[in-house]
Amino acid sequence: MNREKPEKPKIKAAADVIRNGGLVAFPTETVYGLGADALNAEAVKRIYVAKKRPLDNPIIIHVATKQETLQLTEIIPSKARKLMSVFWPGPLTLVLKASEKVPKAITGGLDTVAVRMPRHNVALALIKESRVPIAAPSANLSGRPSPTTAEHVKQDLDGRIEMILDGGPTNIGVESTVLDVTVDPPEILRPGGTSYEDLVKVISQVKIHPAVLAEKNVRVAKVPSPGMKHRHYAPRAELVLIEGTVKPTVKNIQQIIDQNVKNGKKVGVLATDETKDMYKADVVKSLGSRADLPSAARNLFRLLREFDEDKVDIIVAEGVPLEGLGLAVMNRLRKASNYRIVKAD
Ligand code: TXA
Ligand code: MG
Repeated sequence: MNREKPEKPKIKAAADVIRNGGLVAFPTETVYGLGADALNAEAVKRIYVAKKRPLDNPIIIHVATKQETLQLTEIIPSKARKLMSVFWPGPLTLVLKASEKVPKAITGGLDTVAVRMPRHNVALALIKESRVPIAAPSANLSGRPSPTTAEHVKQDLDGRIEMILDGGPTNIGVESTVLDVTVDPPEILRPGGTSYEDLVKVISQVKIHPAVLAEKNVRVAKVPSPGMKHRHYAPRAELVLIEGTVKPTVKNIQQIIDQNVKNGKKVGVLATDETKDMYKADVVKSLGSRADLPSAARNLFRLLREFDEDKVDIIVAEGVPLEGLGLAVMNRLRKASNYRIVKAD
């Protein structure tokens, strides 16, 4: 499928599936989504079944125009309008007060709704041709790393959904930033493709929910974003995350490798370009340069899936700086490690 100029007949066929209450996986600029007609509660319920997703985890609604947001929400605060004009289409999801029109099945019973306009011609063409907003979580089985290629979608959902639109590998590689704009200052509930630094350039104050940076499993009485409490992004192998400056990190990782090899384990290392030649291990993969955090974001989920194909028993991962897209990468790695984090310094 041509990602710049999507072929009309394929889009038409996919839109027919959506309009008939079926499920279509499609590319966005972040990760592949699993789409259904957002205004059809039965279709939305099928998403939960196909993904084996917990019913209390709400789903993002994707729109092709800003006007479509008006029917989904009671009110769009002025800061939200500003953010929409700067970042849409793009990897920013806004949590708004939901209107009556939004099926309860999408919001997991919350009175808010998450909306975003993806920056991808296939996604936009599909929404327009379907003539309905499209509900779409990431197109992976619940708990697995999000899919950044059509092949990943197939690995998880083949036979469980009607159609997959293949638009090649996605560009950003981590999901959108989820920003709650029902509170002031707005609060990041999930870091993603739009960085904190970019947001504060537009609306000077942005909070970051404590769970975003958590280094252990925080038990908050009421989580504002149910996705926070579910184990996520996890490869099948156990993952240990080593955080710190480069030299001590490398030393710590080699010790962990040696220990595990002695115990008969197959070890994979998630390294960076600067360090990848320093390790002696069964499998070493690089996220890219430590100076290029967008490349780490782009490669992360694919590499986690590859380690599973290599059948490693344990993945030892290097932490990256918490700046720019590094915040999203570290949030995913900490969750994937189930908070098995070693401080190297
Ligand atoms: O980039 C993305 O956002 C991708 C592509 C397909 O658009 N979608 C995606 O969806 O990552 P999903 O379902 O995997 O993640 C949605 C996140 C979850 O953490 C969910 O809890 C949160 O958004 N969310 C959805 N609706 C919400 C709401 N009303 N309030 C708070 N959090 C919400
Ligand atoms: Mg997901």
